[in-house]
Amino acid sequence: MANLLRISGLTVGYRTSRGMVRALDDVDLELGSEEFLAVVGESGCGKTTLGLSIIGLLPPRSAKVTSGSIDYKGVDLAKLDPNEMRRYRGSEVAMIFQEPLTSLNPLVRVGDQIAEAIVLRRQRKGSDQRTVGEVMQRLYRTDKSGFSRWPRLRSKIPRDLRDQVIEWLNLVRIPDPGQVIERYPFELSGGMRQRVMIAMALSQEPALLVADEPTTALDVTTQAQVLRLMKEIKDKLGTSILLVTHDLAVASQVADRAIVMYAGRIAEDSNIYDLFSSPLHPYTQGLLSCMPTGTKEGSNLKPIPGSIPDLTLEAVGCRFQPRCPRAMDVCLQKDPTLMNVKEGHKAACFLYER
Ligand SMILES: Nc1ncnc2c1ncn2[C@@H]1O[C@H](COP(=O)(O)OP(=O)(O)OP(=O)(O)O)[C@@H](O)[C@H]1O
Ligand SMILES: [Mg+2]
Repeated sequence: MANLLRISGLTVGYRTSRGMVRALDDVDLELGSEEFLAVVGESGCGKTTLGLSIIGLLPPRSAKVTSGSIDYKGVDLAKLDPNEMRRYRGSEVAMIFQEPLTSLNPLVRVGDQIAEAIVLRRQRKGSDQRTVGEVMQRLYRTDKSGFSRWPRLRSKIPRDLRDQVIEWLNLVRIPDPGQVIERYPFELSGGMRQRVMIAMALSQEPALLVADEPTTALDVTTQAQVLRLMKEIKDKLGTSILLVTHDLAVASQVADRAIVMYAGRIAEDSNIYDLFSSPLHPYTQGLLSCMPTGTKEGSNLKPIPGSIPDLTLEAVGCRFQPRCPRAMDVCLQKDPTLMNVKEGHKAACFLYER
């Protein structure tokens, strides 16, 4: 599998009143083309920060990439200025968020939003130089300063574009797309909104899709449908997917590989089968033992004692050591690095140091 993305030594901090929060600390990660990678770990371990770093959407005032690189097809995304990054976002790397309402425009019909995304894609590819307004024949209410308000009349989407919008909605299995394109986001269910978001992101034909907890707000049946859809799309369009989830069951259903994050670092990186059948890191073992399964429930679930460390403090030794049932003396003194334990399976733990 050829590499699409290679992250090396990525360190990201947030300035806060309590000091610098080290949200990512020396993260190394490779992602192959057409690979489905899950990023798992407890709340606050840096999963979203990793996704936002790749897409260039870290909050500019508080976040700082202090070191490292994000090599995407030979370009270091971490060094691009916001304008340059805009060229990559959407067309090369797209992101979908947990709550689609935050990303969809509430005042614009769903069909218009997807059509607009397709027109922008055409412009970027150079196949169509016309503006969105020219293509869509949209009428804006414009105030004296020239500021565009919401469309006064709905756009007239040209026939070929409308067919494409419907095609994308069919791909994400939206029933009756001809009718859905006329609706506003608030008129759709959460599952349908999430599919619209996926359709919009995919209509940009990105090589990499970063999805941050895309199914967390959905009921289990819809969650399963959306996840299956993402996997189908990966196979059909060859898109690499980086799926952020705190849910190990979700990761096991769809991903080829997973990384387990703990306090801003990668604790384990493995193909999905080995991660679940023979987890190496005591943290992964702990996560798995508190995962409900068909035969294990209630009193059989063992939570990991303690909580993640304060990320404003400099770490001495292994970050997981205070909670680790297998901690040794060395874990108090040295910070373990991610090492190859066997083919396709890495762990950052002194238990495996040879
Ligand atoms: N804008 C911000 N300002 C300050 N600190 C932040 C900001 N965003 C995240 N953090 C901190 O960075 C660390 C990592 O946060 P991040 O959101 O990446 O975690 P996460 O793994 O996505 O968690 P969750 O599962 O809850 O979404 C946390 O300690 C968090 O408090
Ligand atoms: Mg998050």
